[in-house]
Amino acid sequence: MSHSEDFAAILSRGLTRRDALRGGFLGGLVLFLPWTGNKQQIPTPHGTGGLGFEPLAPSREDRVLVARGHAAQVLLRWGDPLLPGAPAFDPRRQSAAAQAMQFGYNCDYVGYIPLQPGGGASQHGLLVVNHEYTIPELMFEGYDSSRPTREQVDIQLAAQGISFVEVYSDVDDRWQVSRGSPRNWRVTGLTPILMSGPAAGHPWMRTSADPSGMRVQGTLANCSACVLPWGNVLSSEENFHLYFGESIDLPRNDSRRAHFMRYGFPDQASQYGFEKVYDRFRIDREPGEAYRFGYAVEVDPHDPSWTPRKRTALGRIRSEGSTATATVTGQVALYYGDDIMFEHVYKFITRHAWRPGDRSHNRGLLDQGTLYAARFHDDGRGEWLPLVAGQGPLVAANGFPGQAEVCMNAVRAATLMGATRMDRPEDIVIHPHTGKVYIALTKNPKRGEDGLPGGELNAANPRPANKAGHVIELEEDGGDHGGTRFRWRIFLLCGDPDDPDTYYGGFPKSRVSRMACPDNMAFDLDGNLWIATDGQSELYGDHDALYAVPTEGAERGFARRFLTGVPGCEITGPCFSPDGTTLFVSVQHPGEGGTLSDPHSRWPDGDNPPRPSVLAIRATDGRRVGMGAGTARD
Ligand code: FEO
Ligand code: CA
Ligand code: CA
Ligand code: CA
Repeated sequence: MSHSEDFAAILSRGLTRRDALRGGFLGGLVLFLPWTGNKQQIPTPHGTGGLGFEPLAPSREDRVLVARGHAAQVLLRWGDPLLPGAPAFDPRRQSAAAQAMQFGYNCDYVGYIPLQPGGGASQHGLLVVNHEYTIPELMFEGYDSSRPTREQVDIQLAAQGISFVEVYSDVDDRWQVSRGSPRNWRVTGLTPILMSGPAAGHPWMRTSADPSGMRVQGTLANCSACVLPWGNVLSSEENFHLYFGESIDLPRNDSRRAHFMRYGFPDQASQYGFEKVYDRFRIDREPGEAYRFGYAVEVDPHDPSWTPRKRTALGRIRSEGSTATATVTGQVALYYGDDIMFEHVYKFITRHAWRPGDRSHNRGLLDQGTLYAARFHDDGRGEWLPLVAGQGPLVAANGFPGQAEVCMNAVRAATLMGATRMDRPEDIVIHPHTGKVYIALTKNPKRGEDGLPGGELNAANPRPANKAGHVIELEEDGGDHGGTRFRWRIFLLCGDPDDPDTYYGGFPKSRVSRMACPDNMAFDLDGNLWIATDGQSELYGDHDALYAVPTEGAERGFARRFLTGVPGCEITGPCFSPDGTTLFVSVQHPGEGGTLSDPHSRWPDGDNPPRPSVLAIRATDGRRVGMGAGTARD
């Protein structure tokens, strides 16, 4: 996207987190125009839906399968050289310096930013890929979790973060990586980043290395992301609490104690053991460091010299990622959730409107605005509750003397305000034609069981011991993403269609593919919701997969399995090229649960170690991915 592209053009494409940058095709029946609240009829060559592939059966194979008529190409693997001078991948001689120039581990979010205008948009682009976490047992021979070496920790810090990679489609319609391109760069766990917004510089954020509380080293746990209307990327730090260890050595009356408990910090050795090597990951020595993670990070994908910013106004939330859209008055609305059992769904509205072409104005937008958390009433109505210091219970007596404290402890503020405790909110996406908001609740086996106040069954989280997850459909009142009232309904209750407590949008369940644990989602040009799963092997023994589900019309709820993954993996980051003819998707943590000496997967190269990778999938006849006959080449 060029930075001067006009607002209406962005809106008309129904800005969503996955495909904010799609081309001019408007392929749907109804185009949602948020700035007027009107719905406008747009002629279309075919109806909404249009899916035409035969669903796959569940798989336990150590290879990725895609629906007939499509081919998957492994485009980017962990360790592939990206930057100029990057060495070839050698897993047994890996170094932090090499890793910082190579594709990172555990690819998650995939975004596609066109580098050509018009017809070339889908032929040449910049891929933005998050690297959520590392699996040292699959990275290092004989890894000892009780004694990680400095080199092992440094390699993991370099393997996290974000990759920006120039890619193009060659004359044979195969995607290629521009190895060594000056456009390729990495953000890692060591990249200098500025704190910004209400909490930046707060005393709780200060550390011995940074008494200003303004400059932090790196970003971690980047799960999903979105592309903002002004072209920057907003990447979310999700399970940041898992990187900090040792005991919480604070006085009993220090309110930070409650924060550490509520955010689930381990109060013992961490899973990754970074604190055994670096004091900054020790809660007892540097509690301030932990307050500098858990935010959405704004990065300019085209300008590594612009220091990325952690946007504290959006709250410290273990968020999968956000989705950006516009309000009727031109502000930016971001939707996101906290991916923990019994946590909440959030929305942030910028105070000021986005100004096309005004980069300095737009780059400050996410520092000012209102943070909200969602309350889902049992009658199908809902409201967004403002998390504003001084309002309601968010006062000094409750530990909220100002907005900085609200932001750093947003989850507790949301609960105090009465936000609904949900079944692990993962991805949130917006329908490109209707403006409806879809929320994946991945699962919550403890729902209704553990006596937690607010953890009882409610209409929005209706299943006890919810192991298969569900999807909620939310409609803002008046179609305004800037409003504070909405209606909601259940779209899917996932799981085995033979089980009476499942629901697939009202579609006959005998025809749907079994789907469980919805996680990452993306809309295609036709308004079909593509849902990637995380956790099916635990329930059914077969591998996580990717499904396509129409949300409107006669096939609403008709879930079809399009792709199946490999042992130990989940599928992440589905993202369509602007013309819909390529689907990029990540295969994250293949072989997880195994070790280098006992690999559970040898994907993608039939070799050890398995390598998290990004696939590029195309229909063999060039039509849009997943579409049936008669929908080719729009
Ligand atoms: Fe990184 Fe919410 O999964
Ligand atoms: Ca996820
Ligand atoms: Ca997940
Ligand atoms: Ca995950």
